[in-house]
Amino acid sequence: MNKKSNIAIVLAAGKGSRMKSEIEKQFLVLGGKPLLYYSLKTFEESEIIDQVIVVTNADRITYVKEEIVEKYHLNKVRAVIKGGKERYLSVWEGLQYLDNQKEKGNVFIHDSARALVSEEILERAYQGVKEFKACAVGMPTKDTVKIVNDQGFVEHTPKRSLVWNVQTPQVFTMDIAYEAYKRLIKEKVEEVTDDAMVVETMLKLPIKLIEGSYENFKITTPEDLIMAENLLKK
Ligand code: CTP
Ligand code: MG
Repeated sequence: MNKKSNIAIVLAAGKGSRMKSEIEKQFLVLGGKPLLYYSLKTFEESEIIDQVIVVTNADRITYVKEEIVEKYHLNKVRAVIKGGKERYLSVWEGLQYLDNQKEKGNVFIHDSARALVSEEILERAYQGVKEFKACAVGMPTKDTVKIVNDQGFVEHTPKRSLVWNVQTPQVFTMDIAYEAYKRLIKEKVEEVTDDAMVVETMLKLPIKLIEGSYENFKITTPEDLIMAENLLKK
């Protein structure tokens, strides 16, 4: 068999400050289970994904292992490791772990806050990485987007059909992801909000955007919980 392995790095090391809850949003209980469970379950059942690395807060590692991974028999989870202060530092922890393990293949970087990722999305993303080596899932924006100046006045209005909201997973060959992040860390660039941006700016490689879904939104603020809870019931 020459199937290369597909590894997911699932990010769960944030604080969830915009959620304004006591506990980090990835551990809020929705439909009886912690939010992090849902994306891990999708990866567990996926035909595409071979193994999963969970990156979480240092003081949550035992909880994640015992109360989520073991409790729900998420057997593809190979490691639960500690994250960093910013999202990109958590990704870097995951990539270094995989590099130490000499893992090759493709890496699916995913926000656990996107609990409603689906197998169909993973399949499209896998096709994307096979063909283009670097891709991210997203959806065309529903709202018109304005670019403003520092004073808040509109400077221009991009053509709506060309504006996408980017989601996760963002999927790259291991080599590309590792090299891009290695340069980012070396050059101490800090203003990065997603993985595609790291690859765009550090390696100047083209990134293909792949259709995600509107359900694959990032649970960020309290009203998102109501929508997520309803969708998870389906
Ligand atoms: N994340 C992470 N490590 C960090 C910051 C974020 O692993 N240092 C993860 C989050 O757990 C989340 C995903 O990255 O699943 C996307 O980040 P975001 O939605 O911004 O989550 P938080 O940073 O936790 O939320 P906020 O920005 O509101 O504080
Ligand atoms: Mg954040």
